[in-house]
Amino acid sequence: MPGPSVSKFTQVAPVAFGLLRRALHFSSLYKQFYIIIATLLFINIRSFPLVWHVRLLRHLIGWNLRRALSMDVTKYMEETSPVAQDPFKKEVSHSYWAGPDDCDFLGHLSNSAYAKNLDIVRMKVCVSNLRPFMLQGGFMPLAGADYAYLSEIPLFSYYEVRANVAGWDDKWIYLYSEFVTRPQSSKAAKRLEIATETAAQMTLDVPKHKPRSVRPDGTVLHCVAISRYCFKLGRLTVPPRIALGVCGFGEDRTNWNRSAAMQAQGTLRRFLEGGWRDQKGWDLPEFEEQRRAGMEWCRQLTLGINAAAP
Ligand SMILES: *[C@@H]1O[C@H](CO)[C@@H](O)[C@H](O)[C@H]1NC(C)=O
Repeated sequence: MPGPSVSKFTQVAPVAFGLLRRALHFSSLYKQFYIIIATLLFINIRSFPLVWHVRLLRHLIGWNLRRALSMDVTKYMEETSPVAQDPFKKEVSHSYWAGPDDCDFLGHLSNSAYAKNLDIVRMKVCVSNLRPFMLQGGFMPLAGADYAYLSEIPLFSYYEVRANVAGWDDKWIYLYSEFVTRPQSSKAAKRLEIATETAAQMTLDVPKHKPRSVRPDGTVLHCVAISRYCFKLGRLTVPPRIALGVCGFGEDRTNWNRSAAMQAQGTLRRFLEGGWRDQKGWDLPEFEEQRRAGMEWCRQLTLGINAAAP
């Protein structure tokens, strides 16, 4: 019966808490106890309520604030848009720290943390590439992702996520992301690696899992992710070539000029909603070769999962 046990608890609890408090107060340990609790809370601060949202949205809010405060909004838009740029060359990166809240009990970055942190890079991609589209109410939902975990990212290490456009078709755009670390001294890491390799060759004992080597740019690759997104305006899907074009991507300023003109006339939203169907010249032919090559392996990757989730 709950009655008696509850009343017993209400009688016992204050006494127990009082004793505990007194024990903590009078023991020489209580200070250490508070220090440990405070340290624990501090190193897990990124998992406090709303912190993740702030980390995610601060890029967007920052950009909107600067736009609101800028003297010349048109100029600001142009300066912060990828005018006449190559989408394949526009890398977006973000640095992270593998804190305990992101790591599992084995002392390395938990596989779920990769997805959580990739979202922050995605927001950065949107903010640095797609503002003209987003200002019309557009957004870029995630439709799928694949991760290949190559080697662990240890607890307390700094790492970086770098995202690049891999390709697009009529509906989807694919982002290729790398999770990398920079060994403190790449020379030392390289020396160690060569020594390990030489030793392995001398004993013919080639290890099955060779440590990931330091690449020429000084980074070690830990994980690659391919994620698939589409461009949405309300319930409508906007083809990637249109969304990229109106944001300014292209060989020269042609796309930006047309997009800026539509923006000035207030017809950009109508264009995105379907007006593009009647307009030629938004196919981004200058990037066609690279787009095809990228799509070759993106399509291979999603073939299987598409069959499972038709
Ligand atoms: C775009 O507009 C600018 C400024 O109006 C002009 O100087 C430039 O020639 C235009 N470029 C293209 C490719 O249309």
